[in-house]
Amino acid sequence: MSEVFQPRILAFLCNWCSYAGADLAGVSRFQYPPTIRVLRTMCSGRVDPLFIVEGLRSGFDAVFVYGCHIGDCHYLEGNFHTAKRVEVVRNLLEFSSIGAERAQLRWVSAAEGQEFARSVTELSEVVRGLGPLDRDRFGMQLSALAQTLRAERLRWLLGMERQLTELGNVYNEKVDKRRYEEVLGTAAIEEYQKSLILESLVRGPQSVREIAASCGLPVYTISLRLGDVEKAGKAAFHSYDGNTPRFILSGA
Ligand code: FES
Repeated sequence: MSEVFQPRILAFLCNWCSYAGADLAGVSRFQYPPTIRVLRTMCSGRVDPLFIVEGLRSGFDAVFVYGCHIGDCHYLEGNFHTAKRVEVVRNLLEFSSIGAERAQLRWVSAAEGQEFARSVTELSEVVRGLGPLDRDRFGMQLSALAQTLRAERLRWLLGMERQLTELGNVYNEKVDKRRYEEVLGTAAIEEYQKSLILESLVRGPQSVREIAASCGLPVYTISLRLGDVEKAGKAAFHSYDGNTPRFILSGA
């Protein structure tokens, strides 16, 4: 009989609430599956979105982030940022076909030991249902996601949400929240597509059709994003294969 799959899950726990909640679960003997490896952070806001993708790249099947309930963050706004960042990561994971369920965010207070145990049990079952993360199949996507989450444009937008939507610029102009969400969502997808192209070109010179095939994106989308990548000086024309131009990473 085949063995039951035991997921490997990385869990970031905020020191002030969730970590204490996990401690209470242990002391109270509320049982939960031994699927999570805990990393304690002072605030869930310390969890850079890149940490989630790096967790998946380094062998975990899923990454959970636990923080204080909204309004209870000991650093006031840390978990507001966490909610936004995890949402961006989940959207990108879904877009890349890896699956949004591999990143989860929950709020658990220091008094909620039973809730912590219940939540870990429930989410572990979700991950068990997904099966192991196939890093051979999704290697290129995971590398592109890591590159995306390092992109200056995306990090600037994520860091400036409050300034843009609540505080305003020097002229006291504010961006409508819905408009901000749209801009952020578009930026995340575009940066991911550009990162995928760069990951594909690591293999050597390719035509637009070859890049499109390896990225799993339409030729039209690749043409657009390749133009952006060329303008940024990260890729360049390499040679003609018959009438077909081929492109290469700059400096390769
Ligand atoms: Fe717990 Fe910020 S201190 S989420």
